[in-house]
Amino acid sequence: MIYASMRSIASYIPKQCITNFDLEKIVDTSNEWITKRTGIKTRYFADKTQATSDLATYAGELAIQRAGLRPSDIDLVIVATLSPDFLGMPSTACIASHNLGIHNKPAFDITTACTGFIYLLSLAKAYIQAGMYENILIIGAEKISSLLDFNDRSTCVLFGDGAGASVISATSDQNEAIVDVHISANGQYSDFLVTPGCGSRNPANQHVIDSNLQFIQMKGNETFKLAVKTLANDVDYILKANSMQPEDIKFFIPHQANLRIISAVGEMLDFHQDQIVVTVDQFGNTSAASIPMAINSVYEAQKLQKGDLLLLDAFGGGLTWGSALLRFGGL
Ligand code: UT7
Repeated sequence: MIYASMRSIASYIPKQCITNFDLEKIVDTSNEWITKRTGIKTRYFADKTQATSDLATYAGELAIQRAGLRPSDIDLVIVATLSPDFLGMPSTACIASHNLGIHNKPAFDITTACTGFIYLLSLAKAYIQAGMYENILIIGAEKISSLLDFNDRSTCVLFGDGAGASVISATSDQNEAIVDVHISANGQYSDFLVTPGCGSRNPANQHVIDSNLQFIQMKGNETFKLAVKTLANDVDYILKANSMQPEDIKFFIPHQANLRIISAVGEMLDFHQDQIVVTVDQFGNTSAASIPMAINSVYEAQKLQKGDLLLLDAFGGGLTWGSALLRFGGL
């Protein structure tokens, strides 16, 4: 039997740290409001010369190295992003692959917003179990700062840039395998999180640009309520489907959008504080990069051992959501 294993994890954090106090200087907000309502203290922004593929390349390079592989060993590259280098084409995955020295191998992007990494895991697991590929590089990468309206205090304080990458490899050892991945979507709520301009619905023109429609818009409060309910249901579903209890999990790693959402879901599901991984305070919401960056934070803190059971859970634009159970397969 072939299983899929998370062989490595890595991330890239851009250099420029932006504090809540920095944002106080450019938009009508306060450190107190941001901290109390979101738990965010800092976030990192890529510099003007960097695009999403550059962040993806740094994280991807480290993930390949940590898997003990060479670029030529990678059979497929998939990037999840809502902030691609270019609208439409070429894909960010093609550019990152080229940067990484991965030649003549398939590469493509997916757009499932903050649930991106869970969708990537489901694809990688399916390809590997079908016997099509042996080593797949999956990357969640975002330069969301390029999509933020710094006149809109309800969104611009929430997001940060970054990338997280992982090599998913074939294994025969069930003790280091991805156990289960559950993904879903409901387009009924597609207007909750949206970048309305510059796609085929509202092609780029002066009106679109003057109205700031090229930037992220969010119905925060409505999204918040649905996020708590959906995330909690989703965790419950995947645990029950695999006959597991919260105490079987080493780390619960939810999407990092808001500390209040993470705490509410953690409490509803009876996770202990030390099981719940929180990075939103440092990085803000990095969308598709949020979960791999959070896994990497426990990896780099040397808290993660081979075989540890991780529960991942995400929610984002689309709306999309998903969860994954996996035994870490890295060293
Ligand atoms: O990653 C994808 C999924 N995303 C999420 O899950 C995000 C979910 N939503 C949230 O995290 C929260 O809804 C927000 C953090 C976005 C907003 O928090 P909230 O507690 O839902 O606030 P609100 O939108 O209900 O706004 C409350 C007040 C409003 O003022 P009034 O109308 O009560 O006078 C806003 O204008 O807070 C005001 N406000 C701000 N004040 C200072 C909104 N943004 C800010 C701000 N600084 N940055």
